[in-house]
Amino acid sequence: MEVIICPSYEEMSIMAAREVASLLNTKPNAVLGLATGSTPRGLYAELVRMHKEEGLDFSQVTTFNLDEYVGLPDDHPQSYHYFMREHLFKHVNIPEQNIHIPSGTTRNHVAFCEWYERRIKECGGIDLQILGIGADGHIAFNEPGSSLGSRTRIKTLAAQTIKDNARFFEKEEDVPIYAITMGVGTILEARRLLLLANGENKAEAVRNAIEGPVCSMVTASALQLHPRSMIFLDEAAAGKLQMADYYKWVQQNKPGAPKPEV
Ligand code: PGA
Repeated sequence: MEVIICPSYEEMSIMAAREVASLLNTKPNAVLGLATGSTPRGLYAELVRMHKEEGLDFSQVTTFNLDEYVGLPDDHPQSYHYFMREHLFKHVNIPEQNIHIPSGTTRNHVAFCEWYERRIKECGGIDLQILGIGADGHIAFNEPGSSLGSRTRIKTLAAQTIKDNARFFEKEEDVPIYAITMGVGTILEARRLLLLANGENKAEAVRNAIEGPVCSMVTASALQLHPRSMIFLDEAAAGKLQMADYYKWVQQNKPGAPKPEV
C-alpha cells in the first residue's frame, strides 16, 4: 500500500487526478472503476479541467461504477447515475455506450448482477478502481460483515451509512435501504486501487483500514491484500495513523529510490 498524505483536499484531488490522467495517457482505452459520494468530486472536477484545458481524452475509455441505490430511477437527483452525469460524464467525451452503472430499477437483480460481473470481464477487467471509504470502513456499499470474497449483489445499508447519506436527501426516511454494489472480491480484481479519504470523520476508518487487521468488519482493510493500491489522504483523515511520519518519509524519498536500469 502506498499511503500519500496531502496538505489539503484540493491537493489530494489533483494528485489522484494525475494518476488517472497518467494511466489514460499510457493506455487510452483503459477501463476505469468509478466511485460516487462527496470525496471524489474534486478528482472529477480536476479530470474535467484536464479534459477541457489540456485535451485529456476519454474517447476510448470504458467505465464501471461501484454501486447504485435500489429504487431510484436514473434521473433521480440522488441517484448515482445522476451524480456521474453531473460531475463527470456530461463534461468529458466518454462514449455513452462505454458507461456502466448498476441499475437501480432492474426487475431481476440477480441476473443484472451476474451480467455486470460478466461485462467487467468482457471489457478486459478494471485497470484502475477509484474508491471512497465510509465512516464505518466500507468500500462501495460493502458494509461491515460483508465477505471479503463477495461479488456484485444487493446489500442492505447499515444504519450509519443511511445516517451519513441522509445529508443528500430531504429526510432520513428518503434514503433507500438497499443498493446494488460490486463486492469486495470484485474490487480486489482491479489491477490498481486508488482510495481517497478526507476529513476528520474518516480518520478512524482510515486507521482501521490501513493499520488494523484485515477483517470483514472493515471492508476497506481488504486493500492490504492488493499488490497495487494507493491511498490518498488529507491531513485530517490521516490524523490517527500510527505510521504517518513513515508514510511521509517514503514519499519524500521516492524520487531517489532505485529504478530499474534500461
Ligand atoms: P463520501 O462517501 O465520499 O460521501 O464520504 C464515501 C463512502 O461512503 O464510500
